[in-house]
Amino acid sequence: FRVPVIDNEPMRNYAPGSAERAGLQAAVDKMLSQAPFEVPCIIDGKTIKTGDVQTQIMPHDHARVLAKYHAATPELVQQAIDGALKAKTAWEELPWADRAAIFLKAADLIAGKYRYELMAATMLGQGKNAWQAEIDAAAELCDFFRFSVKYVEELYAQQPPRNSAGVWNRTEFRPLEGFVLAVTPFNFTAIGGNLVGAPVIVGNVCVWKPSPMATYSNFLVHKILLEAGMPPSVIQFVPGDAPKVVQQCIDSPKFASLHFTGSTHVFRDLWKKIASNLDIYKGYPRIVGETGGKNFHLYHPSADIQSGVVQAIRAAFEYSGQKCSALARVYVPRSLWEGGFQQTLVEQVNKITIGPCTSWDHFTGPVIAKHSFDKITGIIEKAKKDGGEVIAGGKWDDSKGFFVQPTVIVTKDPKSVSMTQEIFGPVMTVYVYEDADFESTCELIDTTTEYGLTGSIFATDRLALQRAAHLLRNAAGNFYINDKCTGAVVGQQPFGGARASGTNDKSGSINIFYRFISARSVKENF
Ligand code: ALA
Repeated sequence: FRVPVIDNEPMRNYAPGSAERAGLQAAVDKMLSQAPFEVPCIIDGKTIKTGDVQTQIMPHDHARVLAKYHAATPELVQQAIDGALKAKTAWEELPWADRAAIFLKAADLIAGKYRYELMAATMLGQGKNAWQAEIDAAAELCDFFRFSVKYVEELYAQQPPRNSAGVWNRTEFRPLEGFVLAVTPFNFTAIGGNLVGAPVIVGNVCVWKPSPMATYSNFLVHKILLEAGMPPSVIQFVPGDAPKVVQQCIDSPKFASLHFTGSTHVFRDLWKKIASNLDIYKGYPRIVGETGGKNFHLYHPSADIQSGVVQAIRAAFEYSGQKCSALARVYVPRSLWEGGFQQTLVEQVNKITIGPCTSWDHFTGPVIAKHSFDKITGIIEKAKKDGGEVIAGGKWDDSKGFFVQPTVIVTKDPKSVSMTQEIFGPVMTVYVYEDADFESTCELIDTTTEYGLTGSIFATDRLALQRAAHLLRNAAGNFYINDKCTGAVVGQQPFGGARASGTNDKSGSINIFYRFISARSVKENF
C-alpha cells in the first residue's frame, strides 16, 4: 500500500475575533474550571490509582494545581514491563498498514477533536502561550505522527539487496528484542509523543515515563493514541519518581533501548548505568538522546541589523528560552553593535511584555518551575558579579508565577558563566568582537562549550557565510543561515545535535527509525 501524501499540519493564527481564538479560549476556560485533573498510571489500558499522589502546578500561577498524578509503585513498573512484552508479538506482527493507520488517525484526532484541549493542557501545565502551544501540541505532534508513517514506509520500501542466480536475498526490519523506555521532557508535548511514537511505529513496545511537569498533556496524548486504536499494552503510561522508575526499567534484563530528551548530566549518568548493566541484557541497548545546548547566533559585519535583532529576540525569548534549541550566546561585531544593533535590541526587548500564558497579550510567559526560576536568576546574579552588564531585563518575580524578564547580558569575557553554562531560561549573553576577528570568533564559538545543538550565521557576504559554515561545521547539528536557531520543522529540518547535545539521530527524519530496528538479512536458495 502507499501512504497518503504527507504534509505539515497548517498552523492556525488565532487572530482577534476569530473562531479559532474563541475555540481555544473556551477550552482553556473549561480546563481552568475543572482542574485539578487526576492522572492515573495506565497499565495494559487499565486506570490505576496508587494513592501516592504528586502534583503538576500551573507555572503562571503556582498556587493552582493542573493535575494530581499517581506515582507508579515498583510492582506497577514491573507490570508495565511484563504487559508490554506480552503485547509485543501481536503488535510487531500486525500488518504495517494497521500500525500506520493508528498514527494517521491519532494525528487527525490531534488536529481536530483534541487540538484545543491538548493545547490548553500544554498552556496551563507547561507555561506556553497559544502560539507556542499551537507550534508544539498541535502542529509538531501531528507532523511527528504523520511523517513517521511516511518515513517508515520509505524505510520498508527501500531497495532490496541484489540477487545471484538461484538466490533470493532480502532484508527484514525487526523491532528490538525487549522493550523501549521513553523518558520525555516538559518543554514539548510533541517530543513526548515522538519519543514514544518513533520506536512504537516500527513494532516496538514502550514504557513511557513522562516529565512530572508535563504529565497532564502527556496523559492526553496517551489517551488519544488509545482512541486511535493503539492496543492497550503497547505503550504503558508510567508517571512517577523519575530516578526510581528509570532505574527499575534499566535494571530489567528485557531493557532494549532508551529514548530520552532531557539534561546532559542525566543522560550521561543513565548511559553509564546502562553500560554497567551490560551483562544482564540480551543485546546492546540502543541509547538515543537529545540533551543540552548552548546555542549561538554569529553576526558578520555584513548582516542586516533589523532582521538579525528580531531573529535573536525570537530565538532567545520565545517560550522563555526553554526550547532545547533556544539562543543563549550572541556574537556581534563592533561595527554592527555600535551601528544600531545594541540600540535596536534594547528598544525591542524593553517592549516585550510577559504574563500568564492564558493571556493573548504577552510575548512570553513564565518559566516552568521554582528550581528553574532559582537557577536562572542565580546565573544572572553570578554573571553580574563576574562583570557582566545587564542592558535589558534583569528583573524577576515569583510571587504568583515564575516570571523572569527577558534579559540581555553583555560580557567582555567570552568564557564567562552565562556564556558557557546552560541556563534554559530567557537570558541571552552578547559578546562583542572586533570586526577583523571574524574567523577567530568562529573558532571561539566552536571551542567555548561542550555542546553542539543549534547555531546560526547572519551575513549577506557569501564568502563569510561559506567560511562560517565550514569553521562551525561541528558546532551545531542544526545550522541556520540568516535564520534564527529555533523552530526546526518535522520533515524539513531534521533535528538534533552531536557532542554533549546528544546522539544526533535526527528526529523528524528517516534516520531516527534505524535506531529502533534490527535488520535481518535472509538468503534463500531456490
Ligand atoms: N525542534 C525544536 C526547535 O527547533 C526544539 O526549536
